[in-house]
This record gives sequence, structure tokens and C-alpha cells, in this order.
Amino acid sequence: MALKRIVSGMRPTGKLHLGHLHGALKNWVDLQNDGAYECFYFVADWHALTSDYAETGEIGDNIIDMVIDWLSVGLDPAKSTLFIQSNIKEHAELFLLLTMITPLSWLERNPTYKEMKEELTSKDLSNFGFLGYPVLQAADIIMYKAYGVPVGVDQVPHIELTREIARRFNFLYREIFPAPEPLLTQVPKLLGIDGRKMSKSYDNSIFMSDTGDVLKQKVAAMFTDPQRQRRKDPGRPELCNVFTLHELYTAPEKTGELAGQCRSAGIGCTDCKKILGTNIQNGMNLIHERQAYYRNHLQEVRDIIADGDIRATAVARKTMDEVRVAMKISYGL
Ligand code: TRP
Ligand code: SF4
Repeated sequence: MALKRIVSGMRPTGKLHLGHLHGALKNWVDLQNDGAYECFYFVADWHALTSDYAETGEIGDNIIDMVIDWLSVGLDPAKSTLFIQSNIKEHAELFLLLTMITPLSWLERNPTYKEMKEELTSKDLSNFGFLGYPVLQAADIIMYKAYGVPVGVDQVPHIELTREIARRFNFLYREIFPAPEPLLTQVPKLLGIDGRKMSKSYDNSIFMSDTGDVLKQKVAAMFTDPQRQRRKDPGRPELCNVFTLHELYTAPEKTGELAGQCRSAGIGCTDCKKILGTNIQNGMNLIHERQAYYRNHLQEVRDIIADGDIRATAVARKTMDEVRVAMKISYGL
């Protein structure tokens, strides 16, 4: 049976944190290993430019750090095509062509656009590229005629827009593009150390590369059940972010025991966190070994990207040939 193609991208934010690991990467690896899918995963570096156009100096390092983390969690270049968006210039061409058929009103009503513009007041986001963000994303996805796009719920409006743009292309020219499905992952809600969403910009992340004292200190600093102020107060594990992590890193029998001890105030938060720190360290051991390996073998990482770029380019060229013919802009001149 033909494999179903999956496409997903991530902006190059540098070292990844546990939110990326449990929210996206584990799912990417599962899809890769499922056997039913052909996976294309790429670094969305042009998307980073739509908001960070003024600070571009770190993007290169961020790309390599991120790809190292991808490889370390088990994304396997023998199974998945791993590439960098900006190395496939066809993304820019398809983006340009799609901008011609995308009504402005579709972009202006995009909830993510409105929210980000209101929230990120520190940056001037009144640029054309930022408004066009979802059109570039649509190009990324339909270029590979993806059947599915694994994303978090926040990205669903973008996939909806991609579907509408694909349908519009098919209607105006010729039926070339399947409308991709969002593949939503059921993920635990992992918060940062301070109880807000885990994000590099909030400085509240536990990174996939954190080990030893750094890791212990971060876990020790984590917010817990706010009602558990004193050691003798009973706690509510279901409201505690530390416990959410126990469910990911601690054996189920032990997790159940800890929940009981938390509720009866039989264990203090300090001890509960110590156990968690040790378990994260152990659970991340293999990932840490691979991170160290790739940091010492950067050329291998570059070669993996170059190979992925070649594979992606082959598909992208073919799609663009079809697109130009369908649009009757292949003039033969
Ligand atoms: N917008 C996505 C995000 O912020 C990144 C992205 C860019 C993407 N292009 C994509 C995701 C194509 C899936 C498919 O997470
Ligand atoms: Fe959270 Fe553990 Fe404290 Fe309970 S004992 S509130 S689960 S840190």
C-alpha cells in the first residue's frame, strides 16, 4: 500500500525543551516508526524571519542545535526526510504564486495573526511577511502533497487556511493538491517552571539538554499545587505540574504511590521533586548521549541535512513543474 505522506515544520528556536519533546517530537518519531507514513520534517527558518527579521544572527546556530535535538530523540534520516526550508527555494516560488490567489480577508481574520500582533508588542509585526505567514506554511505543506500535518491545536487555523488555499488552487486551475488533515496529538499540558506555558522567551524551560545540578535546581524551583503551602498541607497531584512530569518519567506504580502520599501529606514537595529530578535524568540519558555524539560530529549533522535537502528538492521540483503547467505560466521561453 502506498505510504501516506506527513509534513511538519518547526521554527528554529535553538535548544528544544521538554514541551517540544512531549508536545511534538515524540509524535513525529512515532509517525516515523509506524510504517504507514512517509515523513518530511523541516526547519521553518523563513517563518522565524517573519517576526525576527531584525535579529537574524543566531538563526544558523539555532538550526543546528535544533536538528541535533531532533536526531537525539530518534528522528532517523534513513526513515524521515529532514531538511531546511530555505534550502528548497521552490518554497519561495510556491509561496509567491499562492499569494496571488489568497484573499487578504482570509489572512486578516486569522486568529493567530490577531493574537500575536496584540501580544508581541515588543516587535513591529506590521510587515507583509508576518501577515503572509500562513501562506508560506500552506506552500510548505502542499508542496509535498501531504495527507496529514501533525501539529498542536494552536496550529489548526493555519491548517484550515492551507486547506482553503489548496481548494482554491484546484478550483482556479487544476486538481493538483489534496487538502491536508491536521493530525492532532493528545499531549499532556506541560507548564514551565513558573507555571506559565513552557517557552524559551519566558525563561522557564527545562531543556532537553539540561543535566546534573542545572536540572535538579530547575525541578526544585517548579511551581506545585498552590494550596500546598506548608509541609503538613495535603496536596492535589492532579493540579501539580511536578506530578504531570512524574506521569511521563516515573514508573506507574510509583506514580500512584506518590499521588497517595501527596494527598495525605505523607511526602513533602522537596522529596517528591528530588525523585522526579533523578527520573528525568535517567529517562533522558540516551538522548543526552546522542546529543553529545552529534555535537562532536557536526559534519555528520550537516551531511544528514544535505541529504534531506536533496530528497525534498526532488519532490518540490516535480510539484512546481506541475503547478506552472496547471497555471499556464510555463511559457517555454
Ligand atoms: N507554524 C508552525 C509553528 O509555529 C511551523 C510551521 C511552518 C509548520 N511551516 C509548517 C508546521 C508546515 C507544520 C507544517 O509551529
Ligand atoms: Fe506536587 Fe509532589 Fe508536592 Fe504533591 S508532593 S504538590 S505532586 S510536588
